[in-house]
Amino acid sequence: MVKWLSASLACLGLSTLTNAQYRNSTQIGSADCPGYRVVSTQNRGNAIYSRLTLRGQPCNQYGKDVKDLILKVSYESSRLQVKISDAEKKHWEVPADFLSPDKKFRTKTPMKHLLEFTYQKNPFSFTVKRKDTGEVIFDTTGHRLVFEDKYLELSSALPENANIYGLGEVVDTFRRNPADTIQAMWARDVADPVRENLYGAHPFYIELRDGKAHGVQILNSHGMDVILANKSVAYKAIGGVLDFSFYPGSDAYEVINQYTATVGRPHQIAYWSLGFHQCRYGYVDIDEVEGLVKNYSLAMIPLETMWTDIEYRDMFKDFTLDPINYPLDRVQKFVSKLHKDGQQYVLIIDPAIVRNESYPAWTEGIKQDVFIKNPDGSTYIGQVWPGYTAFPDWFAPNTERWWTTQIANFVKDVAIDGLWIDMNEPASFCVGSCGSNRTGIPPYPWMDPDYKPDVPQTFPEPPYAIHNAYGNLSMKTVSTEAVHHGGLTEYQVHNLYGHMEAIITRKSLLAIEPKKRPFLLGRSTFAGSGAHEGHWTGDNWSTWEQLKYSISGILSFQMFGIPYAGADICGFNGNTTEELCLRWMQLGAFYPFARNHNGKGNIGQEPYLWESVADASRKALHTRYEILPYIYTQFQHAHELGRPVWRPLAFEFPKDQEMLDNDVQFLVGPGILASPALTEGATTVDAKFPEGIWYDYYTWSAVNGHTKQILAAPLNGHLPLHIRGGHIIPTQEPSSTVSQSRKNPFSLLVALDEQGNAEGELYLDDGQSIEVGKKFSRITYRATSRGILANGHFGYRSGVVLKNITILGIKAQPNQVKVNGHTVSHDQLSYDADKKTLIIAQLNVSMDKPLRVTF
Ligand code: GLC
Repeated sequence: MVKWLSASLACLGLSTLTNAQYRNSTQIGSADCPGYRVVSTQNRGNAIYSRLTLRGQPCNQYGKDVKDLILKVSYESSRLQVKISDAEKKHWEVPADFLSPDKKFRTKTPMKHLLEFTYQKNPFSFTVKRKDTGEVIFDTTGHRLVFEDKYLELSSALPENANIYGLGEVVDTFRRNPADTIQAMWARDVADPVRENLYGAHPFYIELRDGKAHGVQILNSHGMDVILANKSVAYKAIGGVLDFSFYPGSDAYEVINQYTATVGRPHQIAYWSLGFHQCRYGYVDIDEVEGLVKNYSLAMIPLETMWTDIEYRDMFKDFTLDPINYPLDRVQKFVSKLHKDGQQYVLIIDPAIVRNESYPAWTEGIKQDVFIKNPDGSTYIGQVWPGYTAFPDWFAPNTERWWTTQIANFVKDVAIDGLWIDMNEPASFCVGSCGSNRTGIPPYPWMDPDYKPDVPQTFPEPPYAIHNAYGNLSMKTVSTEAVHHGGLTEYQVHNLYGHMEAIITRKSLLAIEPKKRPFLLGRSTFAGSGAHEGHWTGDNWSTWEQLKYSISGILSFQMFGIPYAGADICGFNGNTTEELCLRWMQLGAFYPFARNHNGKGNIGQEPYLWESVADASRKALHTRYEILPYIYTQFQHAHELGRPVWRPLAFEFPKDQEMLDNDVQFLVGPGILASPALTEGATTVDAKFPEGIWYDYYTWSAVNGHTKQILAAPLNGHLPLHIRGGHIIPTQEPSSTVSQSRKNPFSLLVALDEQGNAEGELYLDDGQSIEVGKKFSRITYRATSRGILANGHFGYRSGVVLKNITILGIKAQPNQVKVNGHTVSHDQLSYDADKKTLIIAQLNVSMDKPLRVTF
């Protein structure tokens, strides 16, 4: 496919742009643009409005300069908004209802007391300052402000070697290179190249400065470049408005709290979705899929959810079943069996609908007028898996109803548990339109040596070429000139396509089952997509490099408010090796979303195919399932406060220089440190331990941070995990499915800090209802040298017991232990004086009531 693309780029006379062309172009004077001056200012309520006007002759560098602008500065509950727009004409803006702000968001300190906005009148520039430290976090002084119809530019100074995280979607280190990063925002279907634009657009970054964090976001769905170079961050967008939000933090989690309060909180996940998932592109028939589920069970590797890729469909058409390879009765039998065994089934759908007069999704779609159009009003035709296809226009008034009907009719027959929405950049195989009259099923261009883009097209490109790595913006997607409802063009709304599909598909699933949390996984995402769906990092490669990059990919989606994220375990493109797949299963078992997924034509990579991988997978998934209550609690924190489920060490220890670019280790929640083996042939891991005490999850031996250690990581061992002193981890005995595991006894792992204290929380509910009312439990655990207390709200009846409590780092054996006033017998206690651990066993007290353990 890659060869086909470079050939097509060459034949169009297009090439990608070099970094050098982008640098040095943001300073005043680099082109003769006059900038703006302030002509009037008014205070209205919580906002300041200023009118700006051009200071001289328009430069018309990449379009036409807009003469008069409106600046609106408003202090809102979760952000400081600075918005610059055309005073006379409305440019396309992301509509407010595409975001899902948290209306309940409250802060202790109003924004006005946290950030200060000041501006200079002539030329107009502005600064944003933290009020606590006086630090200027955004400063456009000396930089150009260009506002044209097809080009907007604004830049801010950054400190030397700034610590910037975010700006995605991309495969890169978690900390971005502040001296040489060009991040284009243009949703693109491409097989995970390094440092190029990918499926989603997230122009949001967090900067760490002197241990504090702040965040900056621009809300604009047009294509743009965000450039880090020359001690500055530059925004160069090809339309829209300059709508900035500043989030003061002051730690990274507070920034994410403020950001997700603005764009949308992560949705509440279904508990079962934390189990392990298996998929591949290329399971030829239902026999193969059934066989796989059996093989998992024979190998005693937990499998929660079986997936099927596009093969289940009749000629790859959405909402159909292949009558030969996936006949309805067999699929139904298979799904009932899965459900009986406590497992789930997820299927893929793509937005593209094939042009076929005997296909209801097409004929109804045409009747309801739901498809994207050509400028002449005819239906826009591209090419995806089923042949020549149209693309749903999510802006059209009937689309939601039509889409819901298609899904509802299908799930009446096949009782799926969730949907995987793919190819929604949207991906299309022609270069722009394939031609409005085309029908049928052509070969895929990359399989056809004679393929030439055969429809003469103009490809209207903006004068400023963003750093889209395909060059042409219409390459492998819908043409920029295609038209959506209301006259909107793909040029304006391209980056919103997947996000809108997620909003509508979630609504469809809720319309079908209003009480259940929908499961939705999407490829192309935008600000706020986490409110509707999870995300996987797309078509990665079975390489050691991509194993490592999967960590930074998942960490960046935690920032973007999409914590339910994962990468294809064992890699999608190319053949894996036994060792790579083993290491990937060890790491992937701790991904927030853990799914082994493979591309077509590669060797198999289900974990049971090699005994060594099966063994590693059993061990790793045993631990995952053991800590599921803890992971689920982290997801609840994500849902309420945007808290990341995976935590970057940089965010947790922002004052520790060594942690600022550590993206080979990470924390699961606040209390578990993972140090995976990521290189071929490794038997050890060079792990860095930040300050604190860290207890080996498996042996309980303690490491005193701040230190480095070489940890044993044999292939037949575990992924090195350490519990952080000061944390209490609720665990549950694992079974082969999530529902079964949830019936097993709990235990507590209490890891004391230097002062002998620890804390933890457990959130429980039925794991599936949209509204749980008061039927949830939120239990707070506190341990001190005198004992352990569990209090809180106990509204969910789990019906299970707390079996064991293990206390790590307890300096002496207590003379007596009482639980809820009853003395624990000596044979229930075991103290290890060397390891300083105490186990209180066989307690068997209810989890659904407060607990008091005294020493
Ligand atoms: C895309 C998806 C991939 C899927 C394939 C076939 O490449 O990213 O995950 O397997 O399409 O549907």
